Amino acid sequence: MKLIFATNNEHKIQEVRSLLHDAFTLVTLKEAGIMQDIPEPHDTLQANALEKATVVFNLSGENCFSEDSGLEVDALGGAPGVYSARYAGVNATAAQHINKLLAALTQEQNRAAQFRTVIALIENGQPVFFEGICKGYIAKTISGHRGFGYDPIFIPDGADRCFAEMELAEKNKYSHRRKAFDQLKTYLLSR
Ligand code: IMP
Repeated sequence: MKLIFATNNEHKIQEVRSLLHDAFTLVTLKEAGIMQDIPEPHDTLQANALEKATVVFNLSGENCFSEDSGLEVDALGGAPGVYSARYAGVNATAAQHINKLLAALTQEQNRAAQFRTVIALIENGQPVFFEGICKGYIAKTISGHRGFGYDPIFIPDGADRCFAEMELAEKNKYSHRRKAFDQLKTYLLSR
């Protein structure tokens, strides 16, 4: 089955390629000839995921999915959440987002957090949603060079090091994205 993945994020494409079953051919936006930047204007992961998938479905008429993810920090009432990609500003670097988050938690004992991914699949014009959560906590300092975004400060429950210190296969054991994609795969393979 051919599926267009509505993202331009190379890290996400790499992760999702490592997760999908051979039964699926993943087509990126670039490969589908869709060059435009797709907005994420809403205040929930679900609404943004649906928006991105809908734009791509309207342009391509093909089955497609998108995912929207965020880091939800307990002590910050769930922030940065849906705004994770622009927490320190729309053009800020990952290091700037991380520094802002570490600064916000300087006095905080409670460092619990979770990553959450919502996938919106549009299959034959109809949306279906899947969710994956990875619970963990925010480290006091950065470590590791792998991955992207907040990986250098997020330690998943059950691990003793952060995502940025893990090979992709190890991150996939814990990751929110892997959990959401497991559900997507199960759904598609059962049809
Ligand atoms: P979006 O889903 O493209 O809106 O991205 C949300 C933001 O959340 C990303 O830009 C990253 O900063 C962060 N994020 C999402 N998933 C991950 C992950 O697996 N590791 C680290 N950061 C992530």
